[in-house]
Amino acid sequence: MSSPLSATQARKPDGTATARETLTITDNRTGKSYEIPITHGTIRASDLRQVKVDPKEFGLMSYDPAFNNTASCISRVTYIDGDVGILRYRGYPIEDLAEKSTYLETAYLLLNGELPTSAQLKDWTYHVTHHTFIHESIKKFLDGFHYDAHPMGMMISTIAALSTFYHDAKDIFSPESRKKQTYRLIGKMPTIAAFAYRHTLGMPYVYPDNDLSYPGNFLNMLFRTSEAKYRPNPTLERALDILFILHADHEQNCSANTIRSVGSSHVDPYSATAAAIAALYGPLHGGANEEVLRMLMEIGSVQNVPAFIKRVKAGETKLMGFGHRVYKNYDPRARIIKHIAYQVFDLMGKNPLLEIALECERIALEDEYFIKRKLYPNVDFYTGLIYQSMGFPMTMFPVLFAIPRTSGWIAQWEEMLVDPEQKIARPRQIYLGHDTRHYVPMEERG
Ligand code: SDX
Repeated sequence: MSSPLSATQARKPDGTATARETLTITDNRTGKSYEIPITHGTIRASDLRQVKVDPKEFGLMSYDPAFNNTASCISRVTYIDGDVGILRYRGYPIEDLAEKSTYLETAYLLLNGELPTSAQLKDWTYHVTHHTFIHESIKKFLDGFHYDAHPMGMMISTIAALSTFYHDAKDIFSPESRKKQTYRLIGKMPTIAAFAYRHTLGMPYVYPDNDLSYPGNFLNMLFRTSEAKYRPNPTLERALDILFILHADHEQNCSANTIRSVGSSHVDPYSATAAAIAALYGPLHGGANEEVLRMLMEIGSVQNVPAFIKRVKAGETKLMGFGHRVYKNYDPRARIIKHIAYQVFDLMGKNPLLEIALECERIALEDEYFIKRKLYPNVDFYTGLIYQSMGFPMTMFPVLFAIPRTSGWIAQWEEMLVDPEQKIARPRQIYLGHDTRHYVPMEERG
């Protein structure tokens, strides 16, 4: 005969007692208790609504500025364990994918949930490759930008404008339409990015060469000059492919949250992607890789690092490329990027700013200010050094983040769209503003 269960116990299938997966909340305003289910380590915020003093009340809400402790969705795309420094795309460790996969194969994995068969990869590659060209009219408004326009501003505008060319994109609940827009977005992002870059240099646009790989064609559209056929350097081509893999997705980061939120209004994927690019542009997010280079150039020498770190600790500035909302350990991507950096430097020559970066890291990893706050190098700390050595101007660094992240954004967008629990994103607020007051005619205003 099994012993009776206590109030907080449940019975396992084998009959043994176990703690119930619930939270008991007592509202001390009323003395009432509420039992709230715990699933996947979370409680549903809507379960708090039953906690009221007066039945006419709205009920309790949770307040979580910047979503520090709020899950906004259930996802199966990317898993991060920030304490240990784990990153997996659809269960595959980022280290495996960086070593063995290609960006297009990884993009397929993120979007479809499984690694492709040979036939699937061939079909996927064919369709992305045959959507690299852009409508000739798009060149006209790229030409309209000032020569020193930031390429991210050009990307945001131009990707949004794609929605005016592809009216079928509004058919967001058609899997076929979503697939076609996916081919177009992933195929055209490098083309538009390269055209934006060439525009800032006053150089002619280089059209896609569909004989080349995804990264190889991107290098072709960026750097081809008078040669009839561009031959990408295989070391740079592979380094870029790995960097694209590392940047492909990162669960509910600021720009992923943006595309989910904007996409929840059922707008087309080009407009939603443009919003995500805008979020990524910020210096606290994807724009950090550009800011890291500016910071290293401002520091200027290894000898100046201690004084700069002192300013950081005084709260006067940030050590850009350090810190992360989720990683409280070394960002696994930064570790791989650091390795790629040496491969690129062997070919292109060492970036003179590397020593300054290494000294910043050395000091930061020993200093109590950074240790206490668990600030480690993130994905943006070393990428800029590589990109600069590959010949990219600093303003192109966030664009090099946006191109590969497009696959992750679309995967997150699509998962939101087909999730029966998701609706238009519309948070609540705590209102602490004025109570009712009446209009004051101009002559009576102070
Ligand atoms: C990306 O979310 C993602 O997954 C993003 C991303 C992705 O792949 O999508 O990984 C890509 O955006 C990487 C992050 C790139 N940004 C930067 O490198 C900018 C510098 N980093 C910081 O601004 C900051 O670390 C964030 C924005 C990345 C994270 O900010 P949080 O989680 O809101 O942390 P916080 O600002 O509350 O900082 C906690 C403490 C504070 O000190 P105290 O007030 O407690 O004394 O740490 C300090 C901060 O001042 N701090 C830093 C710091 N980052 C945090 N101090 C100095 N230098 C820094 N870089």
